Amino acid sequence: MSSVVQKTAIRGRFLDIQNSVSQATQILGQTRYIEDGLLITEQGKIIWFGDWEAGLSQLTDDMRIDHYPDQLIVPGFIDTHIHFPQTEMVGAYGEQLLEWLNTYTFPTEIQFADKNYADKIAQFFVHELLKNGTTTALVFCTVHPQSVDALFEAAERHQMRLIAGKVMMDRHAPEALTDTAESAYTDSKALIEKWHGKGRNLYAITPRFAPTSTPEQLAKAGQLKAEYPDVYVHTHLSENKNEIAWVKELFPEQQGYLDVYHHYGLTGERSVFAHCVHLEEQEWDCMHATDSAIAFCPTSNLFLGSGLFPLKKAWEKQVKVGLGTDIGAGTAFCHLQTLNEAYKVQQLQGDKLSAMESLYHATLGGAKALHLDDRLGNFNVGKEADFIVLNLKATALQQLRQERAKNIEDALFALFTMGDDRNIQATYIYGQKVYEQV
Ligand code: GUN
Ligand code: ZN
Repeated sequence: MSSVVQKTAIRGRFLDIQNSVSQATQILGQTRYIEDGLLITEQGKIIWFGDWEAGLSQLTDDMRIDHYPDQLIVPGFIDTHIHFPQTEMVGAYGEQLLEWLNTYTFPTEIQFADKNYADKIAQFFVHELLKNGTTTALVFCTVHPQSVDALFEAAERHQMRLIAGKVMMDRHAPEALTDTAESAYTDSKALIEKWHGKGRNLYAITPRFAPTSTPEQLAKAGQLKAEYPDVYVHTHLSENKNEIAWVKELFPEQQGYLDVYHHYGLTGERSVFAHCVHLEEQEWDCMHATDSAIAFCPTSNLFLGSGLFPLKKAWEKQVKVGLGTDIGAGTAFCHLQTLNEAYKVQQLQGDKLSAMESLYHATLGGAKALHLDDRLGNFNVGKEADFIVLNLKATALQQLRQERAKNIEDALFALFTMGDDRNIQATYIYGQKVYEQV
């Protein structure tokens, strides 16, 4: 773990969203853009933020000042759905969800029984997040408890705030990847006791999805959630039409896919459901009534041919939405690329996704989806100092385009359309620079 420098001062051009909103139209009014700003951090938290001139009196001789005159500094990106064991299998050809799981995913995940292997991939994964500007993520591990240890150990080295959990899966998967209702309960409970609230780590109860858990196992997951109400629930929901039909066959007593989770006590303000591409009307209502959140994963939904997520509907129904990469069904770690596809997914439905709304989903909106908007997502004093430094002109084509940008919205939209990890100049976690592009 890196030592915490007492105070760090960052000078540059800052952009964030000041408050969470209930309508997309309110985002512009909450946008805060400071051309020459100053941010001061102490012990991982933001203790001062504002105009450089106004902040001069805050500076002391012993303070290091990191100055980024030509860049743009924004809050760190938040990935609300990603699988660390699938890092090595991005770009697996030709299948949709259920066949993709059996053909590629399960054989890949079997390797994580080996702690050394899990350590190696976890370290690669955490570095990849930092390199891509992601400072917080909600992460699937595998069924193996040691995969959770590997990930939290890797995150702890950078004091990174991660939420993660052991997959619960007791049917419809290879034997080497299944647990039981009872062992999933005891293993998850031990991991909660070991990791939840230790440093910046948080735990998520993680049934893979309804088809791979028996009703007994989902009941155990619900029991755990009742025993530890401040841990998260993280699973998949309504991603693919064949998957939805299968859930209806497997759980005929329930009123639909979401009702399976709701029945077992797995909905709520710390529950995050990945995808939700094909929700029915009463499911939208249940998501809203229970204050559950959605992880919108555009690169994955396009890659697996799952469908187009109706973001406008989520605003109408007042359901929280964060952005997810869903690596390895998703095709990029970087939220700049995720936003590029998110825009196109809305275009295909006749809707627009503005640059500032995109920034919201990638930062404060993601924090809100994770019930962490009191600690993350913008530069408000008191929040945790996780932020990134963006170089808007990382390629010759970007330079040409950025020189013609009409205003900050236009510059940001061009970045979201053309950007990738080459635009991430530096990443700060808890006030410390943990990555810098060389
Ligand atoms: N549904 C159940 N498991 C998975 C998974 O690993 N990835 C995706 N995209 N959907 C799932
Ligand atoms: Zn997923």
